Amino acid sequence: MAKLLLLLTALLLGLTCSLPALTFAAPSGLQLRLTHVDDGSPFNFTERIRRAALRSQHRRQLLKARITNTSPANLNIPVTPVKFEYKIDFAIGTPRLPISAVLDTGSELVWTQCRPCEQCVEQVTPIYDPSKSSSFSKIPCTSPMYAYELFKQFNPPKCQYACAYGSASTRGVLATETFSFGRKHSAKLTFGCSRESRGNFAGTSGIVGLGQGKLSLISQLKFNKFSYCFTPFNSSRSSHLLLGSRANLERSASGEAPQSTPFLNDTNFYYVALRGISLGKTFLPIPSSIFQYKASEGRGTVVDSGTGQSQLPQPAYDVIKKKITSFIRLPVRNMSSTVGLDHCFAVSSWPPPQLPEMTFHFDKADMRIPSTNYMYADRRIGALCLVMHPVDHNLTIIGNYQQQNMHVVYDLTARKLSFAPAQCSNF
Ligand SMILES: *[C@@H]1O[C@H](CO)[C@@H](O)[C@H](O)[C@H]1NC(C)=O
Ligand SMILES: *[C@@H]1O[C@H](CO)[C@@H](O)[C@H](O)[C@H]1NC(C)=O
Ligand SMILES: *[C@@H]1O[C@H](CO)[C@@H](O)[C@H](O)[C@H]1NC(C)=O
Ligand SMILES: *[C@@H]1O[C@H](CO)[C@@H](O)[C@H](O)[C@H]1NC(C)=O
Ligand SMILES: *[C@@H]1O[C@H](CO)[C@@H](O)[C@H](O)[C@H]1NC(C)=O
Repeated sequence: MAKLLLLLTALLLGLTCSLPALTFAAPSGLQLRLTHVDDGSPFNFTERIRRAALRSQHRRQLLKARITNTSPANLNIPVTPVKFEYKIDFAIGTPRLPISAVLDTGSELVWTQCRPCEQCVEQVTPIYDPSKSSSFSKIPCTSPMYAYELFKQFNPPKCQYACAYGSASTRGVLATETFSFGRKHSAKLTFGCSRESRGNFAGTSGIVGLGQGKLSLISQLKFNKFSYCFTPFNSSRSSHLLLGSRANLERSASGEAPQSTPFLNDTNFYYVALRGISLGKTFLPIPSSIFQYKASEGRGTVVDSGTGQSQLPQPAYDVIKKKITSFIRLPVRNMSSTVGLDHCFAVSSWPPPQLPEMTFHFDKADMRIPSTNYMYADRRIGALCLVMHPVDHNLTIIGNYQQQNMHVVYDLTARKLSFAPAQCSNF
């Protein structure tokens, strides 16, 4: 019955509120710069890895809350850490007001803080004021858009939308406005004009959702695929988000054949099927059932753009930790207070021993990552740490650190995730 209702709602929405057309000729593709939330910060690498570790943990609460549909009220914690890793710059309105927002492949809505605010969070750029823009248009209260399934679970007041992200949330009115990406590309988008925002969005104005569903940026721009390429953790070069025809693995030019794995049928997250993990040539003895997808139990494997460091169910993490320890033969040292990571080794002579590639065996595809994508070596403090976190549930998240220098394409038509090694700074 619930499924039928959902389907009916979707059909209804599809018929009655088709999205506004692009105002300018639609480009076939776009390339946008991604800025890491710690870019330009005074933090050293040790401090940055620790901050990323903390964010990953808070991000986990966000994803878990979304999966289990916990409302923000149940999770109201006074400290609101950042739960996103990258932000994109764009402009909104006429005349254009430059703003930035955090990128989230784990959610759908595009929203930005709007004046007048009942409750706004700190934002570096001026807050957008719809009354100063000639292209702003409020979506009328009678629009079925307000009954969109996405908002219903959060019980917004009449004629408002609401969305929660774990302990963070947004509430306001739905509107359309001209969004400009780069200097040439503009589009009329439906967005959340947030009058009440809670949480920490890294000083940006809100969130750009790249998830599935018709309100996400990618759906509204009518692109059938997008990709990102994250430069290495210790690089000062910016990362990239590519939309449409630009999301093309030919750009990777690594010489390695791209690999592809199908997305599972889940409308909330981009789940993929992970079968197992190898270290070097050794297939690790992790029961594959640990990674098995079952949305109702919050089980499965998600590739995420907003999580800094991968998270694995404790039993899987323990097997990896044990294997790495037997490879390295260095003293284990607890450095959780310095680097925020669970498993580190004391390195007395530099460079530390080499570790082999790690392979994530997905359905039909192997993702091979060099040790620099799963270990963090810090000469100044003489440490080598595993950049993964054990979790007490069965949601496995493949995070950014593991995706450094890899071009990752989300093909929404073919419903598959493709990837290949790349030099992301050359994009
Ligand atoms: C970044 O890390 C890689 C691998 O650990 C290393 O080869 C490179 O020299 C580092 N670059 C900087 C700028 O620290
Ligand atoms: C997803 O659903 C489609 C159609 O219902 C089906 O053909 C396909 O096999 C499913 N894919 C997976 C991975 O379950
Ligand atoms: C590492 O130290 C922290 C305190 O800094 C402690 O909470 C944690 O349990 C320790 N971890 C291990 C594996 O001993
Ligand atoms: C990095 O920054 C932290 C916090 O400011 C400081 O305590 C630490 O000594 C620094 N580490 C190095 C290796 O410079
Ligand atoms: C995780 O999955 C295992 C079986 O693979 C199960 O025994 C365990 O209860 C699950 N944990 C949670 C928190 O659901």
